[in-house]
Amino acid sequence: MSKSARAEWDPWQLPPQDGRSYLVTGANAGIGFFTCEQLAKAGAHVIMSGRHPNRLAQAHDALEARVPGASVETLLLDVANPGSIRAAAASVRGGLFDRTKLDGVVFNAGIVHSPRSRKITRDGRELVFSTNALGHFVLGAELLVPLAKSASSRWSPRMVWLGSVSTRMGRHEPVDLQLEEHYSAWNAYVQSKVAVQALGIEADARLRDAELPVHSVIAHPGYSIGGRTPRVSGVNEPSRLKRLRDGLQPIAQSKEHGAWTVVRALVDPESQGGDYWGPKHLTRGVPVRQRASATSADPEVRRKVWEACERLSGITWPVDKAARAAR
Ligand SMILES: NC(=O)c1ccc[n+]([C@@H]2O[C@H](COP(=O)([O-])OP(=O)(O)OC[C@H]3O[C@@H](n4cnc5c(N)ncnc54)[C@H](OP(=O)(O)O)[C@@H]3O)[C@@H](O)[C@H]2O)c1
Repeated sequence: MSKSARAEWDPWQLPPQDGRSYLVTGANAGIGFFTCEQLAKAGAHVIMSGRHPNRLAQAHDALEARVPGASVETLLLDVANPGSIRAAAASVRGGLFDRTKLDGVVFNAGIVHSPRSRKITRDGRELVFSTNALGHFVLGAELLVPLAKSASSRWSPRMVWLGSVSTRMGRHEPVDLQLEEHYSAWNAYVQSKVAVQALGIEADARLRDAELPVHSVIAHPGYSIGGRTPRVSGVNEPSRLKRLRDGLQPIAQSKEHGAWTVVRALVDPESQGGDYWGPKHLTRGVPVRQRASATSADPEVRRKVWEACERLSGITWPVDKAARAAR
């Protein structure tokens, strides 16, 4: 981890991103949308992915209206559906998109408000874990080779995992990842985010071992809420009551500002594999380096989560193939 990163980072003045291509999951709303907007404003080509065609089309139109001349396209991708992930990744690998290289991917899609009772996906996995963690593990495996191929002497492609400050609130060791025993909405969310962070750190260790020039980085957006976020038609349209209620939460920030940490993790030339970025004042503020919770950084927890994802998905990350592709 570089110690020389600038303490200050101006989220309004990003390094030019012309010529770079990034894919963002869950891009039709919230932090995912604003991440795309900030990347597009800086000149990047952005692949906005989402699970619903209408919501995705609305977000695409909104982004084009807010960033005239933006280079942006859409990709249908439901991260809770392995078939959808494979199909979407195959399109990216097959070069169906405007750019043939992929300089980074943001694993943003997530269920923030978990269902009150345990729900499962079509393939029988607990829904919150499957959406937030397992689906991105599968997507990471599917996109590792195109990411590695895009490495150059000037740029190491990145994957950014969305962590959460909630992982500091108690240990939440993910012993029962599918929550078959003790499901609660809070437990499902926090445990999934411990798993995401553990995957992000473990991915970094594995990529380094294989000497792969792809960085795995984690970013958490603090506490970012819709009622403090600019109105964007079809993307963020909070009621008056929500604006009022959210306005009374001084520790919160907008989702636009929540996207700052994600964007820094992705584009700051000094962002390194294994870094953990978060807002300066924990729940709000400009992005700075922080530390992941002890549980998610625990090598034993990381190994168990990684192996559980391999077992549940039947997928092993193709690190050797990616290393050959990077040469
Ligand atoms: N906001 C915070 O304070 C906060 C704090 C810590 C971490 N985070 C993390 O930041 C990320 C974004 O949060 P947010 O606040 O922006 O949430 P949000 O406004 O609820 O947006 C979530 C996005 O994820 C998408 N999504 C959900 N399930 C999906 C699936 N199966 N396939 C594809 N996309 C799916 C949603 O699409 P639909 O519109 O189709 O549902 C939406 O685009 C999440 O990973 C969250 O855990 C947020």
